[in-house]
Amino acid sequence: MRDKNYVIRVSSQKGGVGKTTIAVNLACALSDMGYKTLLIDTDVSNPSVGFHLGLEEVNVGFAEFLTGKVSANRAILKYSTTGLNALPGTIHGVIPPEFKDEIFVHLKDKVDKLNYDFIILDTAPGEIERAVIKGMDAFVDHAIVVTTPELSSVTAGMRLAAMYDKHGIDNDIVINRFRNKSYDVSVDEIEESYGKKELAIFPEDDSVPESIAMHIPVVIYDRQAKFSKIAAKLAASYKHKGAVQPSEKQAQRKPARALFWHSLRLAFRRIFLGR
Ligand SMILES: Nc1ncnc2c1ncn2[C@@H]1O[C@H](COP(=O)(O)OP(=O)(O)OP(=O)(O)O)[C@@H](O)[C@H]1O
Ligand SMILES: [Mg+2]
Repeated sequence: MRDKNYVIRVSSQKGGVGKTTIAVNLACALSDMGYKTLLIDTDVSNPSVGFHLGLEEVNVGFAEFLTGKVSANRAILKYSTTGLNALPGTIHGVIPPEFKDEIFVHLKDKVDKLNYDFIILDTAPGEIERAVIKGMDAFVDHAIVVTTPELSSVTAGMRLAAMYDKHGIDNDIVINRFRNKSYDVSVDEIEESYGKKELAIFPEDDSVPESIAMHIPVVIYDRQAKFSKIAAKLAASYKHKGAVQPSEKQAQRKPARALFWHSLRLAFRRIFLGR
């Protein structure tokens, strides 16, 4: 039985399809189920986890952690609304000069020293070759390929899934922004193209941009939103994959209360920090 660090890589070959949104909400949903969860923003050029969690002002993050400039203790933050741990990127910072692609080779060793039930990796689009070459396949347990029902996204996703297959990385498709329009690629066609059933279908949902504007993951912002229900289901589907049990330490917080504290913190920041 696995005892720690089930690593899920949320990825896409095409940009802007919803990787970060899904990674953030999957991580929050797992954390909410009581799993000790860490969300890592590995997208160094365009980090955006911080926008979703209201951590835009952090000045050390994933790049500094990977180059050894700061310890895990210093770089990992507790997102107090859910208890989720997050290693964001520095949105307003500069990439440390010593950060080179080769540095990804150290990620496995760094992750091995951590102790979580689940580690969710948000990633930059289309970096599979680099990621695999740098040894990410050595520790990724499951890869999610996010695609929208647009043809260009579906075909790009197929290339990514084929690459995962080639390197023996367990992978599944997740459809995002599903609108049930006749001009979109249908679910049947997507399943046929990938040769398997999708793990989840997230609908186009206005609660998503609304929640991002509020810096609150939608699974916390609106638990009844269609997107939130699918995120909870997706998180539940990993119960059997990781063979981990929710860490007892992780006390679940009441959603309404969590939202109250979050709103209070935002108001405080606006008043005292002018943000
Ligand atoms: N299901 C959805 N319904 C409505 N809007 C959505 C949905 N999913 C994502 N979005 C919107 O799409 C935008 C892009 O999503 P996101 O940043 O998660 O994509 P990404 O794949 O991480 O992008 P990048 O490749 O730049 O990292 C978000 O700002 C969000 O507002
Ligand atoms: Mg992203």
